Amino acid sequence: MLILSIETSCDDTSIAIIQVNGRKRPCFNILANIVSSQTEIHAPFGGVVPNLAARAHQRNLPIVLEKALSEAKLKNKIDLIAITVGPGLEPSLWAGIGFARSLALVSKIPMIGVDHIKGHIAANFLNNKNIKFPAICLVVSGGHTQLILMKEVGKYKLLGETRDDAAGEAFDKVAKLLGLGYPGGPIISKLADKIINSKFQIPNFKLPRPMINIKDYDFSFSGLKTAVLYLVKNFGIKKTKDLTPDICAEFQQAVIDVLIKKTLRAIKEYNVKSIFCGGGVMANKELRAQLKTAIQNELPDVILRIPPSELCTDNAVMTGIAGYYEFLREGADMPEKIKANVNLSIK
Ligand code: KG4
Ligand code: ZN
Repeated sequence: MLILSIETSCDDTSIAIIQVNGRKRPCFNILANIVSSQTEIHAPFGGVVPNLAARAHQRNLPIVLEKALSEAKLKNKIDLIAITVGPGLEPSLWAGIGFARSLALVSKIPMIGVDHIKGHIAANFLNNKNIKFPAICLVVSGGHTQLILMKEVGKYKLLGETRDDAAGEAFDKVAKLLGLGYPGGPIISKLADKIINSKFQIPNFKLPRPMINIKDYDFSFSGLKTAVLYLVKNFGIKKTKDLTPDICAEFQQAVIDVLIKKTLRAIKEYNVKSIFCGGGVMANKELRAQLKTAIQNELPDVILRIPPSELCTDNAVMTGIAGYYEFLREGADMPEKIKANVNLSIK
């Protein structure tokens, strides 16, 4: 089976072509995965501007499709088109959906709508060997911070989520207030590395770890961002400039501490066999390394899966894998019935 998948929920235009090998526990062969970033368009605004994003998707989609088709060198016809329907920015979602619908109607290929969060989780199933359920899923992106209990593919229960800003949003807002540019995650991570890799001690200031000891699975990152704002006001321009890498290291560590502590507690409480991670923040080198160490030390029998960084940030491979499982369970959708659903959410 060949799947062409399209992801335009935010500011990355991505089209992938994947081949499914096997049926019940399939492995997925990536024939093409093209991601066209819009960073340059949104960077001057310090965040994604929905209408500019939609316009750029419309411009990029035919070019990205051509690249994907030429990379995949297909010998057979595509069997299924998978398209992200939400959650995400509505104008961006509609740009992808409109394009996918036309493609499906003209080429007479069945279509399936995909939940973006289930897509992030599905990036863990590229290789299906040694997948065990139940599992805890940690999804940390620019729009979401969620802990989800997954009993099997298709059966999800939301345990907790952020009450305000998502973790990635906090990275982006802190980078903006430090004058570092967009997107904030990779920039903060690079600056934090300077401190982590040096012999210098983190200076004498500490940021809060919001909700770390509260016995539910919710998060809150907007107070942490405000704490950075007060720190910067207190330091003044010169000291902030000198201490920017230190602030980045301490901010990053605060986010990591909260994510790891709550995830480990969920794993223990629900006695799960695996943990599946996803979302752009999971591309963070320190978070990946520290989560690995924590699981090895405290829960060595739990299987930890973290997709490669390029499959943590938005991409269409994950959409294709999630689409395949959805298609197995539900069958194809009518193209005209596929609509953007901004508030789509695992409950
Ligand atoms: O999953 P994603 O690509 O898009 C959404 O669904 O939101 O996540 C994007 C988010 C952005 O907030 C970005 O700053 C963050 O992921 N991010 C990172 C890193 N790379 C991307 N955050 C921390 N460290 C990184 N290396
Ligand atoms: Zn995402």
